[in-house]
Amino acid sequence: MMPDENFASSFAARWIEGPGKVSGGGGDGGGFGYWQPRTQHLPQQQQQEGSPAIPPYTDFDRSYFRAYSDIAIHKEMIQDRVRTETYLAAIMKYRHLIFDKVVLDVGCGTGILAIFCAAAGAKRVYAVDASEIAELARHVVEDNNLSDRVTVLFGRVEDVSINEKVDIIISEWMGYMLLHENMLPSIIFSRDKWLKPGGLILPSHASLFMAPVTYADRYHERIGFWRDVHGIKMSAMLQLAKHSSHREPHIEIIPRENVVTRPILVKDVDCYTVTIQELESVTTRFCVTSTLRAPLHGFAFWFDAAFGGPAVYPSEQHLQLPLMGPVDKISRVLCHKKQEMGSDEEIMLSTAPGKPPTHWKQTMLYLYDPMTLNKGQKIAGCVTVSQSKENRRFLDIRLEFSVGGRTRVKVAEMR
Ligand SMILES: C[S@@+](CC[C@H](N)C(=O)[O-])C[C@H]1O[C@@H](n2cnc3c(N)ncnc32)[C@H](O)[C@@H]1O
Repeated sequence: MMPDENFASSFAARWIEGPGKVSGGGGDGGGFGYWQPRTQHLPQQQQQEGSPAIPPYTDFDRSYFRAYSDIAIHKEMIQDRVRTETYLAAIMKYRHLIFDKVVLDVGCGTGILAIFCAAAGAKRVYAVDASEIAELARHVVEDNNLSDRVTVLFGRVEDVSINEKVDIIISEWMGYMLLHENMLPSIIFSRDKWLKPGGLILPSHASLFMAPVTYADRYHERIGFWRDVHGIKMSAMLQLAKHSSHREPHIEIIPRENVVTRPILVKDVDCYTVTIQELESVTTRFCVTSTLRAPLHGFAFWFDAAFGGPAVYPSEQHLQLPLMGPVDKISRVLCHKKQEMGSDEEIMLSTAPGKPPTHWKQTMLYLYDPMTLNKGQKIAGCVTVSQSKENRRFLDIRLEFSVGGRTRVKVAEMR
């Protein structure tokens, strides 16, 4: 395992095991004193007439939320400057829409985005999280004297009760290769239940991309060990090593120069209109041309998230609006962010190869055996990304493609 994969793998490992196998309550709990994560069984709401259908609360969901009660994942996310500062820039850009309005933060974690929105002048923010980190988020809100404007609700957004419509929904829901974790249906649920007509969703759009990659160093690094072990030929292990290493996708940085074609758009998501059903399985055909003569080692996936405005865009009165006072330091950061960017600049969180790295890195699917690619050669095929039948937060990937008359099928599960 590469050192840079440790975090991703250990996070996933906490919730992939499924019912009954995850030990403890997540986090070590030691030293917190007042906060010990518990394995709570939150009540599941009955569906009300006219409301979107409430999905069942499965044991897989419990494992998933328990993983988010660990502090390490929240630190990793907040320390991802590209991620956190892009949200901050978006909040600044739309401050005129947030000011004096009601915001819903779906999956608030530590409360950071909810607090940014309060600092930008939101009248009320509902910060919802089904992980026990929500209990700490409540303390964070209190410590920043924001309890009168930020209400932390511990529970699934599908189960909590909010007795008013909201003007803005903000959420950081994107998983590896965008759809892993399958959190987007919770944003769709919130949109359909609470968002006012003409309301704002941040981010507003997202796109999943894929591209063929050459990466000899990494490919051989994983399996090359078996060629010579203390002078003993162990090539007999190679097939097994390839299967074990390349069966599942790897989360790693792919240098831009290793991408051998233009990106292939796998799925475009418009958060204002996307449906839960269309996320169950996504299929895209492609035909791209190699810009290099190089061995093809696999395919990389990544996503962009765009922070566009609502369909009807009110005039920009935001430059005169004051920032709210109680969290002075945050207000100063927000002011600084405002100065850094022009208000017309499009705000985009890109996790593409060659862009400043994020904690999502790229998701790389290695072939068991490389294929020779010539410059100008076509790579044509079809990719399907679907929710796993076993656990809808996992992804099944099926990639069928041809190069120069040779066809390959690569199947992988992202757990
Ligand atoms: C990627 S983290 C983002 C946390 C925080 N918003 C931030 O930006 O640092 C996603 C959070 O959403 C929560 N979450 C996911 N699905 C949820 C749901 N249906 N209801 C409530 N919380 C949810 C998870 O527990 C997790 O804390």
